[in-house]
Amino acid sequence: MRMYDIIRKKRDGGELLKEEIDFFVEGYTKGKIPDYQASAFAMAVFFKGMTEEETANLTLAMSKSGDMVDLSEFGDKTVDKHSTGGVGDKTSLIIAPVVSCLGAVMAKMSGRGLGHTGGTVDKLESIPGFRVELSSDDFKKQIEEIGVAIVGQSGNLAPADKKLYALRDVTATVDCIPLIASSIMSKKLAAGAKTIVLDVKCGSGAFMKTLEDAKLLAEEMEKIGKNCGRNVLAVITDMDSPLGHAVGNALEVKEAIEVLKGGGPEDLRQECICLCSNMIALEENISYDEAKGKVEEVLSNGKAFEKFKQWISAQGGDIKMIENPDLLPTSAYTYDVIAERSGYISAMNAERIGGASVILGAGRATKEDPIDYSAGIIIKKKTGDYVKEGEVLASLHSNDEKVLEDAAWVYSLALTISDEKVENKPLIFERI
Ligand code: URA
Repeated sequence: MRMYDIIRKKRDGGELLKEEIDFFVEGYTKGKIPDYQASAFAMAVFFKGMTEEETANLTLAMSKSGDMVDLSEFGDKTVDKHSTGGVGDKTSLIIAPVVSCLGAVMAKMSGRGLGHTGGTVDKLESIPGFRVELSSDDFKKQIEEIGVAIVGQSGNLAPADKKLYALRDVTATVDCIPLIASSIMSKKLAAGAKTIVLDVKCGSGAFMKTLEDAKLLAEEMEKIGKNCGRNVLAVITDMDSPLGHAVGNALEVKEAIEVLKGGGPEDLRQECICLCSNMIALEENISYDEAKGKVEEVLSNGKAFEKFKQWISAQGGDIKMIENPDLLPTSAYTYDVIAERSGYISAMNAERIGGASVILGAGRATKEDPIDYSAGIIIKKKTGDYVKEGEVLASLHSNDEKVLEDAAWVYSLALTISDEKVENKPLIFERI
């Protein structure tokens, strides 16, 4: 078999056999197939798509490309969640401690920033000392002891996806349903949790721009998960505007801490409550409302925050920074984006806002780029808000003074200011 023929077959719209997909996944993981052929393959899939069977085969091959964590000893208590990627989405940092202090076992593998979207692993690494690499034995030991662990794709879990994910990030092949579904579900299957809640983002800042595409992606992932014996539920949530007010790694950790302490922005808080409640309802087989009551209680009585500290400390993070978030990495420069006219913010393009935060240093332009953990944006005005000419729309943070004006220009292009107030869209669209 030759990779050349597989690329050509897909380029011409053919359906790949299981053996051909296995050949690609094995060869790419072992370094026998170079990045340039894998990029051509991803681009061919981007344009020609994949059948349900091809997507399932790609998912299984990638999930088996490394270790498969066996969590069967925890029975049906293991839970996992995944977001399809958004801007300002720090929900995992909140959901993990909340559900684990309610008795669920959160065993999660997360990704890095991808394209204009942020990644949980980068956010966690903005806490000095935090280790995102645990062997499968250490991963298991930690969840046994404290009921929560989030790791990056190290320790040989789904290494094929790890390589392909980083490559897609820099080759414009991210927003493609079969590639996203297989990427997410390969990690979920390898990480071993029984109950999986998928947060499928929809809108300008998401890879899925329309509700229709978001539903297709949600259904595809649910099918794969259920066929592999997992409880899967997908929630479609809005990503037209960034979630919360903070975009950028350390800034988002600070905002997550506010929610864990019972405060924080309402949209972020409500979305976390919805995802946690669905997860607990499914895992414990209780009603959504009963689960919601439990979730709200641990967010207000401090137990979720205590669990967060225990988790961050177990993975080596500096707990002083969690107790006093002002000690987290801070940028040398800040720059205010000013409104040039008065009016209502009628639309925000979250993808552009994510792009502005990448310019500031919060994301990567190439897969080798380092991240400036302190960089990012604090959004002062969101969709529906009234703003006066000269008021601050957002404050930009970076350690590179040269990029501030460029990022401010991109940020201002992301906003539409009108005379009329618009209806805000719902935060949660649908449960699949
Ligand atoms: N999240 C993933 O894990 N993979 C993707 O392809 C997109 C979002």
